[in-house]
This record gives sequence, C-alpha cells and structure tokens, in this order.
Amino acid sequence: MKAIEIRNKYLNFFKNHNHKIIPSAPLIPENDPSVLFTTAGMQPLVPYLLGQKHPEGTRLTDYQKCLRTNDIDEVGDNRHLTYFEMLGNWSLGDYFKEESIAMSYEFLTKELGIPSEKISVTCFKGDEDCPRDTLTAECWKKQGIPDERIYFYGKDDNWWIAGEEGPCGPDTEMFYDTGKEPCGPDCQPSCDCGKYVEIWNNVFMEYLKKDGKYTKLSQQNVDTGLGLERMTMLLEGKQTPFDTEIFKPIMDKIQELAKKDDIASRRIITEHLRASIMIVADGGRPSNIDRGYILRRLIRRMTRQMNKIEVDLKELPNLIALNIETLKELYPELLDKKDMITEVIVTEKDKFEKTLVRGEREFSKVVEKIKSQGKDTIDSENIFKLYETYGFPPEVSKDLAEENELKVNMEEVDKLFKEHQEKSRQGSVQKFKGGLAGTGEMEIKYHTATHLLNAALKQVINKDVHQKGSNITAERMRFDFSCDHKLTDEEKKQTEDLVNKWIKEDINVTVETMKKEDAIKSGAECMFIEKYPDDVTVYSIGDVSKELCGGPHVKHTGELGHFKIIKEEASSSGVRRIKAILE
Ligand code: SER
Repeated sequence: MKAIEIRNKYLNFFKNHNHKIIPSAPLIPENDPSVLFTTAGMQPLVPYLLGQKHPEGTRLTDYQKCLRTNDIDEVGDNRHLTYFEMLGNWSLGDYFKEESIAMSYEFLTKELGIPSEKISVTCFKGDEDCPRDTLTAECWKKQGIPDERIYFYGKDDNWWIAGEEGPCGPDTEMFYDTGKEPCGPDCQPSCDCGKYVEIWNNVFMEYLKKDGKYTKLSQQNVDTGLGLERMTMLLEGKQTPFDTEIFKPIMDKIQELAKKDDIASRRIITEHLRASIMIVADGGRPSNIDRGYILRRLIRRMTRQMNKIEVDLKELPNLIALNIETLKELYPELLDKKDMITEVIVTEKDKFEKTLVRGEREFSKVVEKIKSQGKDTIDSENIFKLYETYGFPPEVSKDLAEENELKVNMEEVDKLFKEHQEKSRQGSVQKFKGGLAGTGEMEIKYHTATHLLNAALKQVINKDVHQKGSNITAERMRFDFSCDHKLTDEEKKQTEDLVNKWIKEDINVTVETMKKEDAIKSGAECMFIEKYPDDVTVYSIGDVSKELCGGPHVKHTGELGHFKIIKEEASSSGVRRIKAILE
C-alpha cells in the first residue's frame, strides 16, 4: 500500500468516526519559541489538551509534518529518520481508552488488513504517580488480543510526555511482529532486535506534569501517533524505510550517479535532502543558530556525503527536482515552491563546497600526522583550529574522524567553542572574527538594525530604555529592552518610522577603538560594562547611536531596506521584547 493511500485511509476512517480533519501545522512552530521544530502531532494542540475549546470540536484527526533531531547522528542505519509524518487522532475530553483502542484495532485489522496475530501491545505497569493500566489491557482482550501478547512496562516505555513538562499520561503501544526469529527466550516488544516494530502509540493524556509533580487535567484526552514511513515499510513488506517508494527513487538515482557506493552515505543524502526540502518549504533558512543551524547541518552533511561517494555536486538541483517529484502526491505544495527550495539549498551547498574542499585537505594532513605518531585520538585543539582557520564545522570533523577510526572528545571541543564564544562576546574586533565567521549578510544587517532600534526606543519611550538582550537570525531580529509598559500602537509606529527615516538618510557607520572609560565618558551605550576588556571598539551611526560592540556592521544604514516591527510582547518583568524584520 502506498503512503498516500495509508494516509487517506486513516483520515477517512477517523472522519467516518466523527473526527474533523484539521490541516498539518507547519514544521516550524508558529507561536512556540521553546522548540525548534514540530516534533509530534500533539504539539500544536497543547492548549486544547489543557482545556481550551478547539473550534473544530472534540474529535480531531490530521497528518502532521514532524522533525526530530536528537538522533541526527544515527541517520544512515536502517531505520533512523529526522523528518517523518505522523498520522494522529485526538479526543479532547471526548472518548477515552475503550473507544480509542477499539478504533485503533479496527483500523489496523480491517482497513490495513494486518492479521490480528501479528499485533502485540504494551500497557503501563503502574507506579507511585499513576496506577497500573488494567483497563487498557482489558480493552485489548475484548478486541481479541490474548494475555500472552499484552506486556506491561514502566514509565521508560509506556508513559508519554513532550519534553519535561506539560500534558502527559500512560500510553499503550501497538507492535507489529515482523516474523523474524526471536533473539532469545526473553524477546519481547521492548527489545531492539527488530522482531517487533512499534506502529502506533495511544497516549491517555489525563495528567499534567509541572515542577516535577503530576496532577490530573480537567479532562481526559487521547493523543495518538502513527508513523507513516514505518507503516509504509511494513505494508510494502520492506526491510527499511529507504526501500519504500518514498525514498527508493532517490536512493537508486544516487547509486547511478555515484562513483563509489556506500549504503549509509546514500541513506544520509536521501534522508537529509528530504528533510531539508521540507524545512525550506515551511520557511526555514540556513543560519548559524537554532533551527537555521540544524538546516545548515543537514545540508552540509548531505554535501559531504555526496562528495565522499563522488556524486557530482552539480547534480544537486536534479536530485531536488526528482525528490519533489517523488513527494508530490504527499505534499503537492512543494511543486510551487520548487525554484525557491532549489535556490536555498544549492546556495548553501555552494557556500559550503569551498570550505569542504580546503577543510578536508587539511583534515587529511592532521590524520596522517596522528597516525604516524601512532595515536588514536584527534586533539580537540586541532578540530577547533580547522574551524577557526577554514570554517570547517566540528560535526564534520567528528564524522571524518569516525570514518578514519580516530576518536574525538566532543565535550572538550564544545568547551573550546564555548570559551571562544565568551571571548568573542567581550567585543574586540579581532577576537570576533572566529565567532562570527559564518555570519551572513542578513545577520549583519539585523545587527546594525538593533542599534537603530535601541536608539529609536530611547527617543520614543525615554532615555532610560536599555538593551537587555538580543537574538538574530537571517530571518528576523529579536530585541529585549527595559520598559514598564506595553507599547501603544502609536509608540510602535513612531519607533518604526524613526528607524526607517535613519535608514533612508543612509548614515555612515564608523568604528573606533578606545579605552573603556573614555568610551563610557563619551556616552557610548553598552549592555554589560564589566564584561568588556580595557580596550573596546565603539560603533557609531552618525549622531544617532554610539555603542560598545564587537561588530560586524554594515557600512551605511541605507543597506538595511525597510524595517518592520512584527510583534511586541512581554519578555519578563519590566522587560519587553520586539520582533522585527527587514524587508
Ligand atoms: N504524542 C505521541 C507520540 O508522539 C502520540 O502521538 O508518540
């Protein structure tokens, strides 16, 4: 059965059971800065699981685009994926265990035609927070699952929560028996040997975890999730998702193009390419932090693997076109975005290509030296240096080290990076070079825009407004400042107008180095005075702004384009936050 048929059957089945079909939320969460990507179907529904009324009622179903990045390094084996699609159905204080289990069983056996004997289930065994879920086991027995295929496990296996806090509860998981020989007398669903594959998870969300404590929610919810790629694999009778129609055309094409073959490399390219396409389609752009950095990593890893098995990098646009073609039934919206997606991914690949070629050459020298010395570990300093000198990303060094059977201490590498970032933040231009080595044109523009915004707020609100923090990506800027009230529409408009006026005036941005106390005396603005060294750099934008800062900045404000505030909200007590973009 093809993926699109499974999805359609699922949505129709639940529609026929009085569920409303709701659209997939974007992969990039709309109003939730606490997570980088949507990781589960329930995530956009949290307010409703907590009791808010959903406009579509109490029974919902959808397919949700999801991305999980904790296992990014595992991609290349026979099962791990970063991007996947989750089919889900929800009861928001409507039906509970009995009906949920009856529907799941009916869908698996009648709609998908999975023989009942192939299904095993697991239930929560109980602990001090929540009793043993005997009702769930009874419900399964009623459907015809015998005792010997019902297993009870603790919180590690049969409790579900997104992250640390929030709505949660015991779950029941359904497993498909692949028919493989058991790995031993104790072989059961919780073991990793591959005989049992988890296919569906129904969470009975009636608890809230907060400050480490569990309390009952005001309503009993059901949250289920079924992984589309995995189900497609089983129903197509394939051993790995990469053998299904979702991935196979790309896997085969890469094999045709590659001069060397390596199945793990082909899987990484195939998987990361699809994930990158989906992220870019939903508005993600490569950058040096947060979700932009995940995208950057995916594209870099993919590029390197292409290089490794000698696929001509010029083939990338063709691979993207083929991938969109393969995915068009599931995600027709990709067709319209094809040019944009291709441009973003290929531009990022181009940027990385030069770094990759130089970095790999240098890396081989390091490897040679280490091996000739009879050592088995690469110095963290070496990895850091490759980054500092060639912009060669540490995670690529790590992959390369592993391929050369050398060890690396990534914790130590991380520590070096942190130390380095700390130094960068202290602001001397020279030290900054490394830390912002990958800073793109947009980030630099946003950086200058924060200075203008800081100055404008002082004029519009009052001179006691001070910067409390900022965060910049290639797509937007965020600026926190001290202020005791919510800005009025008038204040927001005046601020915006003032910044745009300064941009129009195309004011020169100049930089000078001076002694810290002289800088302060001259009235330069600065956020954490004690963090700066004795000699500081000061950036001035005409008479408008003067700030201690490490840069980099644009040369003239005219380069910034049009400034627009998209949101103003509370950040913490006495601190407001503005999100703004340059258009
Ligand atoms: N939230 C649960 C999961 O992600 C069920 O949808 O597995």
